[in-house]
Amino acid sequence: MPADMPADHVAAVPARRAGHRTRLDSYVDRYALRTKGMTSSEIRALFAVASRPEVVSLAGGMPSIAGLPLAAVAESVSRLLATQGATVLQYGSGQGDPRLREQICTVMALEGIQAHPDDVVVTVGSQQGLDLVTRIFCDPGDVVVCEAPSYVGALGVFRAYQCEVVHVEMDDHGLVPEALRQALATAAAHGTPVKFVYSVPTYHNPGGVTLTEQRRAEVLDICAEHDVLLVEDNPYGLLGFTGEPMRAMRADESERVVYLGSFSKTFAPGLRIGWVLAPHAVREKLVLAQESATLCPPTFSQAVVSTYLAEHDWQGQVKNFRELYRERRDAMLAALDEHLVDTATWTRPDGGFYVWLTLPEGLDAKAMLPRAVTARVAYVPGTAFYADGFGTRHLRLSYCYPSPARIREGVRRFAGVVAAELELRETFGAALPSAAAGRHTYESPGPDQS
Ligand SMILES: Cc1ncc(COP(=O)(O)O)c(C=O)c1O
Repeated sequence: MPADMPADHVAAVPARRAGHRTRLDSYVDRYALRTKGMTSSEIRALFAVASRPEVVSLAGGMPSIAGLPLAAVAESVSRLLATQGATVLQYGSGQGDPRLREQICTVMALEGIQAHPDDVVVTVGSQQGLDLVTRIFCDPGDVVVCEAPSYVGALGVFRAYQCEVVHVEMDDHGLVPEALRQALATAAAHGTPVKFVYSVPTYHNPGGVTLTEQRRAEVLDICAEHDVLLVEDNPYGLLGFTGEPMRAMRADESERVVYLGSFSKTFAPGLRIGWVLAPHAVREKLVLAQESATLCPPTFSQAVVSTYLAEHDWQGQVKNFRELYRERRDAMLAALDEHLVDTATWTRPDGGFYVWLTLPEGLDAKAMLPRAVTARVAYVPGTAFYADGFGTRHLRLSYCYPSPARIREGVRRFAGVVAAELELRETFGAALPSAAAGRHTYESPGPDQS
């Protein structure tokens, strides 16, 4: 027993433990403090219902991989195993396969990025990139600045590493530079270290908006003024609906930007291959962190991605995806215009998977969700995308997965739920209970809603 521990503390320990034995989780006293941030969402049960075929799910961010040339992929995978099985089923480099890292550089060149394969680390999806970057930069209590709202999976990582999240306002043109400047100035005034700004500048999840070119330059200038890193998370960058891909922020700043990329949305999320492009010194730390986390990223998945990039018209496939998602985006926007134009407002994405919708004053998206699922439509309530309990009037609608006909039907059902909710509000006023009335705890939805 440490000398400075009071004797009554010793007596208190068994009593406290005994009390917890009655709880559902009898291991509760054993967990590390960081697990306090890891809570499963109470809406998860609803999503189990929402995955039934009669429910139109506008909730999940799952790419529509049905369009992939599966027969051709199967043929090259079986050839890969037959000819290189002994290598592709073996452990590999902690940094990732050199050939794939070279190919990743050619993928990033489409967004104006000039990079060397040495500065790329292959990860288990960009989700692991986020984890590794947070692991090497953040101590408990460090501040990470994020857009409001922000990607739910990133918030989960920041919680797991016990970071403080400061949200910064976004509008239809992305992160508001003045708000970022103020947030960084306030943190500096309080002597709080901001470890990085986390941003999804292009086809935002869940916001559906894109940071304009002018603002990109401003945001980079602000980060330079405050000597803060920017983590640019860009899984949707090639999935724009008009013109050429947007220039990545990393293309204009190589020392201050850590870039995260992914093959989940342009090829297949099940392979779990993403990457981090980082300044050289940071890359070295990332490789060490990667080795302690996984020894090496999955060798077989890397070989499958590398072969796919080398042997298939992957850019043609990305073009097909863009057309497919544009058609679905159009179906969703047209249905929203038809059914909700006098009631709600929403963003109009130029790419990616998501529309961010704002309900009329007084409505609560989380409280409304059980009624929506009963009406056979699902969405993700806005509070999932904030670390601080905001977002009750907001929700995310995804158009990536259902067919245009299902999207139209889903939006029609959703509009019916909103109309019924408004009628209830009119009849009973603010006396109706709302999910926001309870104490807020951040809960992460499952991967199928992320
Ligand atoms: C903004 C953002 N970052 C990261 C990820 C994680 O993607 P991956 O499948 O590459 O881990 C997602 C997935 O939806 C995302 O939307």
